[in-house]
Amino acid sequence: MSRLAINGGEPLRTKPWPAWPRPETAQRAAELVSEALTSGKWAGDGPMENAFAERFARFSRARYGVCVSSGTTALQTALEAAGIGAGDEVIVPGLTWIATASAVLSTNGVPVFTDIDPETFCLDAESAEAAITPRTKAIIPVHLSGAMADMDAINAVAARHNLLVIEDAAHSHGSLWRCPDGEARGAGALGLAGCFSFQASKSLTSGEGGIVLTNDQDFADRCWSYRNVGRARREGQESVLGFNYRISEVQAAVLLAGLEALESELATRDANGQYLNRRLAELPGIRPARRDPRVVRQAYYGYILAYDPEAWDGVPRSRFLKALQAEGIRAAGGFVPVYRMEYWRIRKERFPFASRYDPSSPDYHEPNCPVVNRFSLEQQVTIPHPVLLGTQDDVEDVTRAVEKLYEQRDELAQQPALAVQ
Ligand SMILES: Cc1ncc(COP(=O)(O)O)c(C=O)c1O
Repeated sequence: MSRLAINGGEPLRTKPWPAWPRPETAQRAAELVSEALTSGKWAGDGPMENAFAERFARFSRARYGVCVSSGTTALQTALEAAGIGAGDEVIVPGLTWIATASAVLSTNGVPVFTDIDPETFCLDAESAEAAITPRTKAIIPVHLSGAMADMDAINAVAARHNLLVIEDAAHSHGSLWRCPDGEARGAGALGLAGCFSFQASKSLTSGEGGIVLTNDQDFADRCWSYRNVGRARREGQESVLGFNYRISEVQAAVLLAGLEALESELATRDANGQYLNRRLAELPGIRPARRDPRVVRQAYYGYILAYDPEAWDGVPRSRFLKALQAEGIRAAGGFVPVYRMEYWRIRKERFPFASRYDPSSPDYHEPNCPVVNRFSLEQQVTIPHPVLLGTQDDVEDVTRAVEKLYEQRDELAQQPALAVQ
């Protein structure tokens, strides 16, 4: 009789994982929402929005924050405020959410996919530098899931080629990076702009929402204008054609409640993340994302690792994942490369500058990103951040389950591959 839950054995864990959003935060949010609703001001640079923008910027060690309606509109706003436009090329990693690339298209710019670092799984600076052309204007590193891009190397490439850096920090609320001057600065405060998402699954959330952080006041004013239909923020500032990407006081109230809890949640996740790094690295064929020594604090959206089927007698990742889920461990694959996503469909008439993405061009589905392809399609395993909110014994269940599967890998090897979810 099999011991594996996928074959009818007892699951290793039946206890639920911590809920997300946390009930304590929901309760505090309800109080602040009620305050917002009775304040008489429901939107439009209200006190809750201003307080949140100011506090989150300070928390991330940036000077300015402009709240917007989502992570996608944060990227669009930052790109517009940075002056990215028709035909400008912007380097993005092949492994990210589609919005990193589609926001570039929305400015009529051209996203150029480059490879990721094989250890951190974030944008690789060398691959980015190799993709630079006279039309390149900006780089968007993405701090993927539970890892940080090498911002020193990326900033150095940008400085050498006079490019702007816009961080996609949609997964990275509260990571801290030790800069070359010895100062620790927040993810999102390391380039010209940092774009965050507050969508429901994120580690700071108002259901939907986003923010752009920057240290540049003029840039902040341009972001404010762009997300506010284009109105000038200050006397002397030119108005532009913008859109309504604002948030309401109710969203800001929910964010304030989340921010109150964030510091201690970050400490728990970071400690558990480092614990898992040590424990999982001891197991065959399991390679957690490398934590760069310059990462002072790691904010986790998910805990990512590379699973190596060869070290598991050929057990494909899909079967490993199903078996892990059956043992009661929350785990999934992760993003597929953007250029392989089903919604990555570019109509020539709509995006005339993106001709390299004509379906007949090899760049459309197969840019040169071998590390992205191997990691994303064969190896990537992502454990969502609520798992890291438990005790050390809770997260040790992840290790116990992987050990259990490894011991029974001959049984797993006999099963067919399954779709990854
Ligand atoms: C890396 C990345 N960038 C941008 C976004 C866009 O954020 P939103 O869903 O809030 O528009 C997401 C969303 O999950 C994301 O994962």
